[in-house]
Amino acid sequence: MELKNNHLYLGGLPATQLIEEYGSPLYVYEEETIRNRYKDFAENISYPHLRIYYACKANSNLAILRVLKEEGAWIDVSSPGEVFLVLKAGFPPEKILFTSESVPTEEIEFLIHRGILINISSLSQLVRYGDLAQCKKQDAGCKISLRINPDVGAGQHKHVITGGRKSHFGIFIDQLDEIQSVLTRLKGIQVSGIHCHIGSGITEGRQFLEVMEILCGFAMEFPSLEFVNFGGGFGVPYKRDESPLDMKALGRELTLYFEGFCSQYGKTLSLALEPGRYLVAESGFLLAKVNTIKRTPRYKFVGVNTGFNHLVRPMAYGAYHEILNASRVEGEGEPVVVTGNLCESGDLFTQNEEGIEERWIPQIEEGDVLAILNAGAYGYSMSSNYDGRLKPMEIMVKEGKVQVIRKRETLEDLLRGME
Ligand code: LLP
Repeated sequence: MELKNNHLYLGGLPATQLIEEYGSPLYVYEEETIRNRYKDFAENISYPHLRIYYACKANSNLAILRVLKEEGAWIDVSSPGEVFLVLKAGFPPEKILFTSESVPTEEIEFLIHRGILINISSLSQLVRYGDLAQCKKQDAGCKISLRINPDVGAGQHKHVITGGRKSHFGIFIDQLDEIQSVLTRLKGIQVSGIHCHIGSGITEGRQFLEVMEILCGFAMEFPSLEFVNFGGGFGVPYKRDESPLDMKALGRELTLYFEGFCSQYGKTLSLALEPGRYLVAESGFLLAKVNTIKRTPRYKFVGVNTGFNHLVRPMAYGAYHEILNASRVEGEGEPVVVTGNLCESGDLFTQNEEGIEERWIPQIEEGDVLAILNAGAYGYSMSSNYDGRLKPMEIMVKEGKVQVIRKRETLEDLLRGME
């Protein structure tokens, strides 16, 4: 992203021109940013046996998956749909790890048939896996990973904390004996990985290191491991004054700790991590056009032609997304409330957990283009057709060139599957 002549440029092109040519609303991703974020993540962790599983729930557009595959990513999936997409993008089954909750037996079967490693998240799932896989010997088909709840959780909002006693994710860490007895009974299953994911949007390295220590202690109980996976959750700054995660320091400490663990364990294991947001959030912009400005005695409302059906984070978590007036980035501003076009009072892009919040944005006029920043993660992937609105088109930009990576929907798409 660049600011030139008071206009916002993405991948070398003015945002206003992109809207003119491709229509509104529009998701724009800068390819270079995705590649740079991946490199930044990978290069800051010098541990040589590193697996970076991109958590594709953050954004599963095929073009983005292909970029990350080219960079060397492995891939974390959470549904048969994501398996389908990542296989289409060219990821080989051996680089895929499936992690989900409340997994039905049909899904376990689906994964076994495709040779995809399952991160088992409950004793029930373990038993059902054992019954289906019927492992006679330790071959690839009978390897599993175990998702553990380490009794610690973290994250930027209560909806995204996935560890601790109130959390239903994974097998609680005090159930080691139960796990061992199921494994003894089932025979032939190799626990090749131990995993945890404590939450999302973590910006303090300390929290990763704390959980690493707990999980490594647990991993010592499993002699046939190939990797330990500490999950994702690596946060990015959404506000200008927020400090980014210190990846350099974190990478150094992760490496140091894991090397120490491996020498204690007696074998060199792979260190696995599952960043989603960190790799793609900053690459993405949701562009929309201002069509209505109105006032009440209390607020000035700026209405755009998108809503929480396209970016749900402000509505779901009171999440802050910076908004630029791409047509006039700098200049005198005034406090406004940016509203969507859905029929709900929560359809606001400027809100916090308490509700409506004013934002100082340079003089907005009808016809201007607004850019909602950091929309690359959990933007399109959480979008819907609520209110019968079509989903936005997605494009990827690089050095002045545009690639359409998802066509705009048409009204016909709303009829799919219906008579
Ligand atoms: N691994 C597992 C097992 C996960 O469940 C997740 C995210 C990740 C990795 C990646 O987490 P990340 O690095 O992106 O924080 N919709 C919410 C975030 C939900 C995250 C769900 N799980 C949001 O918009 O903030």
